[in-house]
Amino acid sequence: GAPVEVDVSRMDEGERITLSWRGRPIQVVRRSEDAVARLSDIRDRLRDPDSEASDQPDYARNEHRSIKPEYLVLVAVCTHLGCSPAFHPNPGDPAMGSDWPGGYFCACHGSRFDLAGRVYRNVPAPTNMEIPPHRFVDDNTLIVG
Ligand code: FES
Repeated sequence: GAPVEVDVSRMDEGERITLSWRGRPIQVVRRSEDAVARLSDIRDRLRDPDSEASDQPDYARNEHRSIKPEYLVLVAVCTHLGCSPAFHPNPGDPAMGSDWPGGYFCACHGSRFDLAGRVYRNVPAPTNMEIPPHRFVDDNTLIVG
């Protein structure tokens, strides 16, 4: 599969773009500053907050799991049995509960992930969602693959 180019210049905060790379669903999310700050607040609710046992390039092995904190690039596949987790980006989403900080929810067996694809404790998914190889060729142009 050829690399896929994404123009992120028109993305608003909270917005998500979905694309396909090597037949896999990839999502690019533009996180707000607040959303990035919340990634630090919820570390003790996560199984692998530093992504030590999860799959990502070395440059994305950090708290925000990306090159630029603002942009998440994620393989949107649940690491349990491969369902497609739903995007619930807003804190306090009524469907997810008042202490929900924003993230993904897999309805197949109830796995929860934060807005960096990091898995919660006490859910079936064993590891964080995968981060694909990606790079920026300039401020507005992201290459996946
Ligand atoms: Fe996502 Fe089982 S496939 S929780």
